Amino acid sequence: MFIPNLLYLGSSFLLIVSIRMLSSPKTAVKGNLLGIVGIFLAIFSCLVFSATDNKLLISATIVLGAVLGIYSGLKVKITALPQMIAVFNSLGGLSAVFIALSEQISLSTQYFMNTAGLVIGAITFSGSIIAFAKLQGLISTKPLHFKFQNNLNFLLFVIILFQSFYFLQQPDNIIFLCICCLTLILGILLLLPVGGADMPVAISILNAFSGWATVGIGFSLSSIILIIIGSIVGFGGSILAFIMMQSMNRSLKNILTGSFLIKQNTFTNSSKTAHAGSPEDAAFIMENAQKIIIVPGYGMAVAQAQFSLKNMADILRKKYNASVKFAIHPVAGRMPGHMNVLLAEAGIDYTDVFELNDINSEFSNTDVAYVIGANDITNPLAKTDSSSPIYQMPILEVEQAKTVFFVKRSLNSGYSGIDNPLFYAPNTIMLYGDAKQVTDEIVKQLEQN
Ligand code: TAP
Repeated sequence: MFIPNLLYLGSSFLLIVSIRMLSSPKTAVKGNLLGIVGIFLAIFSCLVFSATDNKLLISATIVLGAVLGIYSGLKVKITALPQMIAVFNSLGGLSAVFIALSEQISLSTQYFMNTAGLVIGAITFSGSIIAFAKLQGLISTKPLHFKFQNNLNFLLFVIILFQSFYFLQQPDNIIFLCICCLTLILGILLLLPVGGADMPVAISILNAFSGWATVGIGFSLSSIILIIIGSIVGFGGSILAFIMMQSMNRSLKNILTGSFLIKQNTFTNSSKTAHAGSPEDAAFIMENAQKIIIVPGYGMAVAQAQFSLKNMADILRKKYNASVKFAIHPVAGRMPGHMNVLLAEAGIDYTDVFELNDINSEFSNTDVAYVIGANDITNPLAKTDSSSPIYQMPILEVEQAKTVFFVKRSLNSGYSGIDNPLFYAPNTIMLYGDAKQVTDEIVKQLEQN
């Protein structure tokens, strides 16, 4: 066991270093490669040193998984990544369920960890399927409620707990199967009340669950590599979920009970008018600006306007000597790091990209805030309207800039479904249209002038 354990340790070391390197754009590519080497090493050690007779079958499954993984990695659009992660989480959970069942049938004696792996794996599997269906629009993204829902969930939880205790005293296949079925139902019920806006947090929690299920199964199979990798995923997912909950000002209880209900917000736009401008107006104002902050949001991702933004920033700097910075809100877009990835893809230097806390104080001495395809992350109702679903979510304070441009197709609301009073502010100019087209038009004007 010495050599395989040494190789597993080497693989785990590579994976941990890889994650560390992924935290900076400078080292991320090398980190990714290290991670790939780490995973290869783990698979190789497992195949070579395991005592199974089914090596051919296992190899064929791995190749099939790799082909599907590469295909989905190349094909899936960046806006559909949350769904893809949901599917991957569900597969992790399903593997844990299958392994737990087969271990039970083959009379494993690791009852406690095997049951833990089964329970967490089953919740992860069925919960992730519901998360996928909601994100993909197969079922309503609204929180689904029915009478006594929370009581039913609690009752199921208690029954599963009692069954598990009973099973640990008197191991029995039928009870094990009952635990599996009830936990699958609990996973569905827990995810039904989660609203669309909370789904990314739920996905992170399920991701953490898939890690913890792997740890349980790792103990029941006495596999050091599963325990280590499961712990990394479990802790990683938990920390990410915690950061997202903080950024969106949500608690775990609010998310699981679906209390993200759209209430009537006190602001109403009926008596207000928004001032519309043209790309020519925007180009003229930006030519004369010394400091510009660009605030990208979900619409920028939809329009794939990141390359146009890079052109605009370059020309403003080079031809008009303006200072141009990018401000990123932690929940801009639809997944963590959504904007960072797109801006990096367009070659925007990460030293020009600033997080909310580092840039918010700069809006008051900024000439132009160019808000492109973003809405909720700038909405001042988050500070004032306690009935708003985004109440107390920290926002980018773009309203403090001299001029605020909103590039979007209409006055429609964003993800949270609430109006944004900033559209009607005296220093706001709406630039209606697709984010890429409007920005390209501005670039054309800036080049001509
Ligand atoms: P949103 O508030 O959703 O606003 C995006 C805006 O983009 C929409 O109002 C839409 O307005 C506009 N848009 C869409 N397509 C466009 C296009 N082709 N060209 C121009 N504009 C376009 O986005 P945000 O400000 O980035 O805020 C993110 C929201 O999503 C927050 O509420 C956050 O809590 C939630 N959320 C975030 C995450 C993570 S982890 N990032 C996950 C789930 C939910 P028009 O229709 O008028 O064009």
